[in-house]
Amino acid sequence: MLKKYLIIGGLGFVGKNLSLYLKELGHSFDILDIKDPDKQEQQFLNDLEITYIKGDVRDIKILRNIFSNNSYDGVFHLASYVGIRHYISMPEEVIMTTIAGTLNVAQACYENNIHLLFTSTSEVLGKNNQVPWKENANRVYGSSDIERWSYGSSKGVAEQLILGLSKTKKLSATIIRFFNIYGNYQNPIFVVPKNISNCMKGLRPLVYDSGNQTRCFTYVQDALIALELLMSTKKSGIYHIGSNFEHSVSEVISCIIKNTDTSLEPENFDTEKKYKNTYEDITRRVPDVTKIKEDLGWEARTPLDEGIKLTVEWVKLNKWWLNLDSSVEI
Ligand SMILES: NC(=O)c1ccc[n+]([C@@H]2O[C@H](COP(=O)([O-])OP(=O)(O)OC[C@H]3O[C@@H](n4cnc5c(N)ncnc54)[C@H](O)[C@@H]3O)[C@@H](O)[C@H]2O)c1
Repeated sequence: MLKKYLIIGGLGFVGKNLSLYLKELGHSFDILDIKDPDKQEQQFLNDLEITYIKGDVRDIKILRNIFSNNSYDGVFHLASYVGIRHYISMPEEVIMTTIAGTLNVAQACYENNIHLLFTSTSEVLGKNNQVPWKENANRVYGSSDIERWSYGSSKGVAEQLILGLSKTKKLSATIIRFFNIYGNYQNPIFVVPKNISNCMKGLRPLVYDSGNQTRCFTYVQDALIALELLMSTKKSGIYHIGSNFEHSVSEVISCIIKNTDTSLEPENFDTEKKYKNTYEDITRRVPDVTKIKEDLGWEARTPLDEGIKLTVEWVKLNKWWLNLDSSVEI
């Protein structure tokens, strides 16, 4: 059955890919985001005939107003500040967008009996070194004065808020935790898009510290299938969305070098020297995705090499993306 959704934070990386996917499935949806769309984004909104509402998720009035004028089957809540440079430079914005924003969305959802899908993160589990992580794994953070924890710890509070409201106010909600999603439209400040951008512009790829830290990189198209399945079945509780393809950052860089046909030598970036105690890396981040596989039959199917190849092909057709600034270090 075709549905109508609201995507909050829909002008970001996941939001744009989700928009294309929902359109392909025939669903309709509106987007709410805090940004003034740039030229490319305006074109994107026009091409897909999306109703765009500019607004701040921290303002409950705007949410109540939209909900009273529309009949939504579900809300994808993606709004957040993502990226370590934000966690370090504006931790209070990061925290309040997640906590106040999520409280508002949850409230507006239970008042209107709408299903909420909240996008949380693997960072919620912090530096727990007992991988792979199940949904009920312990959260292990560093000290509160290390700003990078502002993101994971506020997402953790938002998760508890949603679980609490599901109990006390009968909020219908799914919480998902993404594990390193990459693909088309991603801002080139993260390891995969940044180094694709660098290599395609003839700049040296950048490896943080040893390059031995590992991640389970997940191609965005796989993640979207999971998102839509969870929304349409209105599953409650927490689900991990991630791949089982674990790679070190150095392997990722080699894969990008190969797929962009370059022979550039990676450059090392010492986070300790530059960011001192504000940056604390996580050595391994591996999801246990048994729950979503058992409940919905979903698993990530796109290996890193194929996902990178597809992303590079997309960039070749969307050269404007190479004009985005890839020089931000973290
Ligand atoms: N991309 C990943 O690998 C990843 C990993 C873990 C979790 N997540 C989560 O998934 C969600 C989507 O991530 P993304 O990569 O698309 O991020 P993104 O930064 O590309 O998009 C987030 C969007 O939220 C909007 N936004 C920020 N503050 C807002 C506010 N106050 N009101 C309304 N809109 C606001 C931004 O303008 C942006 O368009 C986020 O919640 C993020 O925490 C993503």
